[in-house]
Amino acid sequence: MTTPKKLYIKTYGCQMNVYDSERMVEALGGKGYVETKSPDDADMILLNTCHIREKAAEKVYSELGRYKDLKAENPDLKIGVAGCVAQAEGEEIIRRQPMVDLVVGPQSYHRLPAMEDAVRNGTKALDTDFPDDDKFDTLKKRAKAKRGPTAFLTVQEGCDKFCAFCVVPYTRGAEVSRPADRVIREAQELVECGVREITLLGQNVNAYNGHENGLAGLIWALDKVDGLERIRFTTSHPNDMDDALIEAHGTCDKLMPYLHLPVQAGSDRILKAMNRKHTAEAYIRLIEKIRAARPDLLLSGDFIVGFPGETDADFEDTMALIREVHYGQAYSFKYSTRPGTPAAEKPQLPDDVMDARLQSLQALLREQQTHTLDSMVGKEVSVLFEKSGREAGQMIGKSEYLHAVFAEADPSVQGEIRRVRIISANPNSLGGILV
Ligand code: SAH
Ligand code: SF4
Ligand code: F3S
Repeated sequence: MTTPKKLYIKTYGCQMNVYDSERMVEALGGKGYVETKSPDDADMILLNTCHIREKAAEKVYSELGRYKDLKAENPDLKIGVAGCVAQAEGEEIIRRQPMVDLVVGPQSYHRLPAMEDAVRNGTKALDTDFPDDDKFDTLKKRAKAKRGPTAFLTVQEGCDKFCAFCVVPYTRGAEVSRPADRVIREAQELVECGVREITLLGQNVNAYNGHENGLAGLIWALDKVDGLERIRFTTSHPNDMDDALIEAHGTCDKLMPYLHLPVQAGSDRILKAMNRKHTAEAYIRLIEKIRAARPDLLLSGDFIVGFPGETDADFEDTMALIREVHYGQAYSFKYSTRPGTPAAEKPQLPDDVMDARLQSLQALLREQQTHTLDSMVGKEVSVLFEKSGREAGQMIGKSEYLHAVFAEADPSVQGEIRRVRIISANPNSLGGILV
């Protein structure tokens, strides 16, 4: 038997990259690779990268710099860049960092095994096509190994929305949905490996059209998969929240009461300049409708401060929207100029203005998050236990609202859903006791 080669893969960016990294490990498994947790003993290092903000993209080059010595010690070490930076910068990466052997875009990683052959023969390999063949069809069936109780499953890729600030339509290409029967089969396979909760992923997951009834149709089909207990999906666009999906939040027991629905800004002028194609008012009405279907739903969002042209009054509109909606948790970012996007042409705001706005926005969001966590104390939730906690005798899992919950419990609860009474709230988690 040949000794397995070792693959070290480091993942940046969104959950779709997490899913893609798993599939890349599986694809290279066919070439005799096993995953290693350290770059030091690796035969191949792959960086699965993110291009969404400048900081994320620049991280790649500093990380590559750290591998110089490794490469000098071991000339057989191959280094690859995958993901959205690979797609956006292509050959430029090899020009800037000649030690890179392989560059593969997010739509081409099913071609990794052939690319691996090429780099072993000493040539550089570059593939940033948007190929016609479906990478998910070409990829091997998923590995049958026992796995943890939660999993991501990509059902939709790409984006046709072209928000003025965003690189995703360029790095991931046009919207494509996987056929429902394939998604259901993959879900069944995951359940056979021990998975109880699946998060359906897509850059615009609610634009999913691989089922005749859209994402709601897919969710109802997955509702029938025995052994699958929980369904989540992310990320959604407000304009694609159709009535069937809203209704599913009220009627599908397996669909968890958590929704990530980014709005980005609360000023109509800025929303228009961002090309979001809806008003603040329309978003607020939509939230009301969703909450009418599922009153206890925990709402999450994304915000950008300092979009070009944002005035103090525009920013105050965002703060007002946040106060009106009340988020259980949210992500917020300083606007970052991305090459090739329409907003990159516009004059940028001074950094100190953006910093100050981000601070007040995050303070407000933190207040709402704390309030939400505090309001859970005394309530009973269902927790899907995933692993042992930091302290002895403690297990940790997620509630239906995606809160991390710690409880004193036996390791045997791993993979099980138990009722837990919440007794304490921490800044980012909850403590509870089994009931
Ligand atoms: N498809 C999703 C999110 C994709 S990117 C959606 O439509 O909401 C994740 C988040 O990154 C975005 O929601 C946005 O808040 C943030 N983001 C994207 N481009 C950015 C940029 N140029 N500068 C700062 N934040 C950005
Ligand atoms: Fe980017 Fe907008 Fe598409 Fe989301 S909807 S991925 S923010 S372009
Ligand atoms: Fe980043 Fe690409 Fe995801 S740019 S956020 S890794 S789609």
